[in-house]
Amino acid sequence: MPLTINRRATTEDDITAEVLRRFESTPDPRLREIMSALVRHVHGFVKEVNLTEREWFDAIQFLSETGRLCDDKRQEFILLSDTLGVSMVVDLINHRKPEGATESTVFGPFHREGAPTMSEGGNIAPRDAGGTPMVITGLVLDLQRRPVAGARLDVWQADSSGLYDSQYPDGDALHMRGLFHTDAAGRFAIRTVRPVHYSIPSDGPVGRMLRATNRHSWRPAHVHFVVSADGFEPVTTHIFDDADPYLESDTVFAVKESLICHFVRHDERDDASDRFAIEPPFYSVEFDFVLKSRAG
Ligand code: BEZ
Ligand code: FE
Repeated sequence: MPLTINRRATTEDDITAEVLRRFESTPDPRLREIMSALVRHVHGFVKEVNLTEREWFDAIQFLSETGRLCDDKRQEFILLSDTLGVSMVVDLINHRKPEGATESTVFGPFHREGAPTMSEGGNIAPRDAGGTPMVITGLVLDLQRRPVAGARLDVWQADSSGLYDSQYPDGDALHMRGLFHTDAAGRFAIRTVRPVHYSIPSDGPVGRMLRATNRHSWRPAHVHFVVSADGFEPVTTHIFDDADPYLESDTVFAVKESLICHFVRHDERDDASDRFAIEPPFYSVEFDFVLKSRAG
């Protein structure tokens, strides 16, 4: 009797099985694991929602447009990952911190290389005339709470209009960014303006997705940091303003309780205004960063 071999996959489940089979001999085991899981989940998703051809084509157009909005100033794919919560899931599974270490959060699309190195108390907001001045002071510590001298703090934030420098028409000019280093006692001091809540860019496909799903596009007021030091794991994080109305509903899911700070208002001249030569009213906030050593 001739042996009949079913060479052709005929049902949607046959196709899934055949696609999985084709990836079985991927030499790199991690790539094999990722491709197999991707195929299982994407096929499962398409079958679960009974995706129509129109919806499939709309999705292709959505992703193509997302790709077209990616360059050195705009990163719509990061925005998509952030607003779908994927960035925070990746953050959480990759940065499980020991008790006491500063928690990480999203990097976001607005970091830029080339920020100026500044000395203690340097002002990252020299051209922000409308903002309320603020000083951020604190320490960089190890897990035993010993000071880390020479730690580097890469700091950036939106201005008091809620925009990053790269969002302005002359987007090449750097503003609201600086590199600071801790002194021998692990201390740092940064002058800036009080951050405000702002809307993520919503004039592209991610904005359309948010509107179509009745979601807002706001991020609570925050300042970004990457804190690093020799022998320690760097931490990418923010500090958040505890008075912000969007703390509970950050559109990119990035708020962690341990990163929420109280911004203290100063209405009279005091030691802080003398130390930083600031006229009231201004704000101050203190935050200590605790790094985990690479040795464990
Ligand atoms: C930000 O905080 O800069 C940011 C993070 C995620 C998406 C958009 C902006
Ligand atoms: Fe931000």
